[in-house]
Amino acid sequence: MITRKMATGSGHVKVGDRESQTQKQRHLHQLIDVRKTVYFFTFTVFLSPLIYHSASRITVLPLPQLSNIFAFQPLLIAAKDNTDKLEAEDGRDLARILRESSMIENKTVIVVMMNQAWAEPNSTFDVFFEGFHAGEGTEKLLRHVVLVCLDDEAYSRCNHIHPRRCFLLKTTGVDFSGEKLYMAPDYLKMMWLRTEFLGSLLKLGYNFLFTDMDTIWLRDPFPRLLAEVDFQVAGDYYNFNGNSSDLRNGANGGFNFVVSNCRTIAFYSYWYASRLRFPGKNERVVLERIKQDNFVKEIGLTMRFLDPVYFGNFCQPGWDISKVCLMHGTCCSGKGNKVNDLRQVLEDWRNYMLAEASGKYGSRKLGFRRLKSCRRRRGRRH
Ligand SMILES: *[C@@H]1O[C@H](CO)[C@@H](O)[C@H](O)[C@H]1NC(C)=O
Ligand SMILES: *[C@@H]1O[C@H](CO)[C@@H](O)[C@H](O)[C@H]1NC(C)=O
Ligand SMILES: *[C@@H]1O[C@H](CO)[C@@H](O)[C@H](O)[C@H]1NC(C)=O
Repeated sequence: MITRKMATGSGHVKVGDRESQTQKQRHLHQLIDVRKTVYFFTFTVFLSPLIYHSASRITVLPLPQLSNIFAFQPLLIAAKDNTDKLEAEDGRDLARILRESSMIENKTVIVVMMNQAWAEPNSTFDVFFEGFHAGEGTEKLLRHVVLVCLDDEAYSRCNHIHPRRCFLLKTTGVDFSGEKLYMAPDYLKMMWLRTEFLGSLLKLGYNFLFTDMDTIWLRDPFPRLLAEVDFQVAGDYYNFNGNSSDLRNGANGGFNFVVSNCRTIAFYSYWYASRLRFPGKNERVVLERIKQDNFVKEIGLTMRFLDPVYFGNFCQPGWDISKVCLMHGTCCSGKGNKVNDLRQVLEDWRNYMLAEASGKYGSRKLGFRRLKSCRRRRGRRH
């Protein structure tokens, strides 16, 4: 979602100097200390029944009873001056937004996060929205889109464009507004906050389709999701014989669909808690490390990788315009470059739709052109 510079294929941090690395770790340790209480609470409440029962492989476990929505603590850094009242209001707002935005049939919401840099006029936010209007059968999905705003500026722009669907996720002491460098301390916090927040939606009983904002929705992706799967995620490099259940596929956390049940709640708690075992790693790298863990097998979580034919991205060209539902601006550094190329995708799509409608294809074969601004480098994912 945020421009990630310096992305490397293996997801390792390129460390310039030792000092900044130490600082990063200190930052993270501070963070961890503050969160320990919440984490142990979560662990006790949500994981212990699973651990007790996993030996007998019970797949249906009672959902933890959340007496209220305030069980979700959005604060990464505990704020002394933050009153309970304020948090309570935030919680009610989220409850209202989720209730009004979700699909009635199945309590599903589409979630996207945004900060100030992305909310600027004529930037990522606008292109993302244009996509829904230009796409085939996607406009109707906008009412299910919940925008999670990370700062006041993003929140204000959101309320202007997409009223009653904006949630301000307050974090005291962290500035999420600027363009974040990939793997910088603030970037890491943002990614983990995202994992934590999405986990809390599951606890509230909502299924979610999370999407990065640098995506263009050209067709309704819901019919392409796999049935009866707990956790499905877009493939980064879908290369294991196109086998969607092969866990050796790389996951691209920028687009995933998760069903709320005891397995996914436990999985998100486990994923979030696992950041302590892998300090300085982002949520995607940690997912790669934990996806084959015994814990995940024991809770019986089903995980699948979505076919890039339908869930396309900039890393893997060779797109089929007649099939693609989604284009994700991965493998691209620089917000400007990304927005330019996402615009180009939209332009190509509109030409294709016009030709489809009129039946006049001429001599040209219509498809997506080569990207102009995003310089593709092998292994760069974001
Ligand atoms: C938006 O950005 C595009 C490309 O960067 C530019 O061509 C266009 O003039 C801009 N539109 C507005 C209204 O600023
Ligand atoms: C939820 O219901 C909506 C409306 O019927 C449908 O379009 C969508 O595909 C459903 N989502 C899932 C995940 O089943
Ligand atoms: C796909 O991968 C799964 C898990 O590794 C394996 O059990 C299954 O046999 C594979 N299917 C095919 C068709 O190769």
